[in-house]
Amino acid sequence: MSATYLNQHKDRFLNELFELLRIPSISADSAFKGDVEKAAIYIKDKLIAAGADAVEICPTAGHPIVYGEKIIDPAMPTVLVYGHYDVQPAVPLELWDTPPFEPQVRKTAIHPDGAIFARGACDDKGQVYMHLKAFEMMMAENTLPCNVKFMIEGEEEVGSSHLGDFCIANKEKLKADVVLISDTSIIANDIPSIDCGLRGLSYVEVEVTGPNRDLHSGVYGGAVANPINILAKMIASMHDENNHITIPGFYDKVLELSQEERTLLNQAPFDLEAYKKDLDINDIWGEKSFNVLERTGIRPTLDCNGIWGGYIGEGAKTVLPSKAFAKISMRLVPNQSSYEITDLFKRHFESIAPAGVKVVVRPHHGGEPVLTPIDSKAYKAAEYAMEKTFGKKPVPTRGGGSIPIVALFERELGLKSVLMGFGLDSDALHSPNEHYGLFNYYKGIETIPYFFEKFAEA
Ligand code: BES
Ligand code: MN
Ligand code: MN
Repeated sequence: MSATYLNQHKDRFLNELFELLRIPSISADSAFKGDVEKAAIYIKDKLIAAGADAVEICPTAGHPIVYGEKIIDPAMPTVLVYGHYDVQPAVPLELWDTPPFEPQVRKTAIHPDGAIFARGACDDKGQVYMHLKAFEMMMAENTLPCNVKFMIEGEEEVGSSHLGDFCIANKEKLKADVVLISDTSIIANDIPSIDCGLRGLSYVEVEVTGPNRDLHSGVYGGAVANPINILAKMIASMHDENNHITIPGFYDKVLELSQEERTLLNQAPFDLEAYKKDLDINDIWGEKSFNVLERTGIRPTLDCNGIWGGYIGEGAKTVLPSKAFAKISMRLVPNQSSYEITDLFKRHFESIAPAGVKVVVRPHHGGEPVLTPIDSKAYKAAEYAMEKTFGKKPVPTRGGGSIPIVALFERELGLKSVLMGFGLDSDALHSPNEHYGLFNYYKGIETIPYFFEKFAEA
């Protein structure tokens, strides 16, 4: 049944995704506000075309949320599909082999059948669009077995700052039994997996000020604190020789896994050599006594995301700068709180600043870590669906990234989520040359109806 429909409409399904990918819906950059709205309208139109009811674009103080639903029987269970149509900035453009908003299919070693290269191909337009097409398929074949609601937002990549209020204000509208999200990865195309946890996030920007103006580095150098030198040292001091984070209290609330849980986590296949080869690194790095899966799944981190100040133009300019800046992210694990960690960071950063400089810490958005159940009906439905189409039972894993709204769904709507993603970590999300395998795109469309079938049972 659905395999035939999928085959018959394969090319159109791809062309429609291409059209969505051509819209540069970059939520972080206000210059693209009109394009973000265009992408919302595109999703709205396609939901209507597929047969959804009550489709609307809900404005927020930021970017709009697209909502739509199909209620076949109020007595049946309801799946709330969440995803995002906004994308990360594509800069630096010169690092892309083909322009980020001109999608193109190319073969890669990992994707021998071809992958779609474009910003948002995997994160998350490609994965959102699988849901629209799976829905179209179920509608066309009259096989939608339960109710479905769609909430596709335009601010995930900038912290979903208005979605929380929207959920609180629309509790009745969003009533459902589970949230289904495809915005995470599987281990490999022949090793399906389901993330059962996501890390939280605390994100800060710091400013270090030395003298009140840029100075001649010969006339003053050596006698006045250089904020770049100082900032570099402060950042470096936040990891000790075991790559443990030195902020006092940072690990206090970290939920340690039992030996059993750790063994289970490590049953997920992991190819260290392939990992290093993909990244062209000769060794890995990280917190002592933990391996890669643990370092990215169950341990918190601190990373400098950007650092600037002084002269970076052509040639040399001998200057002792007045200011230095950095953006720093901390990935959090259960039961850390982004508010507490931001606070601990601020206090620590201020305390280690030497005399001669002033520091300011500015918190950005954050998000709380989550664990999603693996014994629920919804998880079992996802497991069933993936086993059906991959021919293998998916492995439970932990996602290293963050989807801050997932914790909010639980707190405000009382809803648990299932993270049935289809991307690969190597698909270059947020990087130049982001791509999404054709295999993954079509596999997702094929798998989603099986989730609905199983979830609607009993
Ligand atoms: N889809 C990602 C999160 C993700 C990717 C989770 C892969 C697990 C595996 C999401 O779009 C994302 O990038 N989130 C941001 C957080 C946000 C507050 C900017 C992140 O993780 O940096
Ligand atoms: Mn995403
Ligand atoms: Mn993202």
